[in-house]
Amino acid sequence: MTVERATTYRNFLKSWVEGLTVHHPHTLNHAKRPNVHVAFHIYDFLLLFGPVISWWCFPFERIIGFLQKINTANHIGGELEGTLTKSFLRGANLRRWLRRSDCPEIIKQFKAIFDRAFAPQSERAGTSPPLVRDGNRAHYMFNGTNFSCASMHLGNSLVLYYPSTSASAPITGSIKKIISRGDKTSFIIRRQAPLPTGQFDPFLRYYPYFPAQTYSSKMQNTTDTVHPSMILSHCARFEFSEDRAVVLNLSRS
Ligand SMILES: *[C@@H]1O[C@H](CO)[C@@H](O)[C@H](O)[C@H]1NC(C)=O
Ligand SMILES: *[C@@H]1O[C@H](CO)[C@@H](O)[C@H](O)[C@H]1NC(C)=O
Ligand SMILES: *[C@@H]1O[C@H](CO)[C@@H](O)[C@H](O)[C@H]1NC(C)=O
Ligand SMILES: *[C@@H]1O[C@H](CO)[C@@H](O)[C@H](O)[C@H]1NC(C)=O
Repeated sequence: MTVERATTYRNFLKSWVEGLTVHHPHTLNHAKRPNVHVAFHIYDFLLLFGPVISWWCFPFERIIGFLQKINTANHIGGELEGTLTKSFLRGANLRRWLRRSDCPEIIKQFKAIFDRAFAPQSERAGTSPPLVRDGNRAHYMFNGTNFSCASMHLGNSLVLYYPSTSASAPITGSIKKIISRGDKTSFIIRRQAPLPTGQFDPFLRYYPYFPAQTYSSKMQNTTDTVHPSMILSHCARFEFSEDRAVVLNLSRS
């Protein structure tokens, strides 16, 4: 997060608010809503707390799931909440210590145990083990990220990837098949058709602040067979008209 990014956010929001009554004149008659006002304060929080991914609600939702899994001796009101809070705070303190440059050796030694106890399932899972017998998979965990075939879970199949080792830029596609032979696994990915040349991409003006790009909503027949390490990240796809889809880069790096 930079001052420039936060300011750009606020400018985009301002042009959206200003455009609202132009493009949707009926909003002129609406009462002013506090959420529009509040959205402008996201600017302050971006400067105070950094990227939204660090402070939006998803981590808290995840924490609720993880708190529910903590073993408690009984379900007596008051004690249960105390146990949950203490366990959570202990975990957070330990995590804070681990990030410090002067972290004592003994705490580092306990990191492996800590990870096993507190890391979410996906971070623990690493990479799926080889199949007993070579063949296709419906999903495959690679280095903590779960990829699926489109027929199994469309969202988990959408990726940005390098079609070959010499490719300079990643492209978008959907995993059609996952094939494992011994300890080698490859993805067969069907390419998303690009937007026909000369067509206007309304998302380009927000790039790189909102890393989305318009594609055709059609898939190409071309497939690429790639090693899981050629995948840059998952992406999100939304078909916003009959022949157009917008693809959002979900890379966190
Ligand atoms: C797996 O993820 C870790 C941490 O994100 C990274 O350092 C490592 O290079 C990754 N390994 C592979 C094989 O991509
Ligand atoms: C991966 O995703 C699939 C759904 O596509 C799900 O059935 C499976 O349990 C997930 N695997 C892990 C380890 O989360
Ligand atoms: C893709 O394959 C389908 C079915 O094999 C075929 O009908 C279609 O014409 C092909 N599309 C292109 C663009 O080659
Ligand atoms: C996706 O985002 C990552 C991280 O911001 C960036 O390195 C990468 O170039 C982006 N890829 C595309 C295709 O936009």
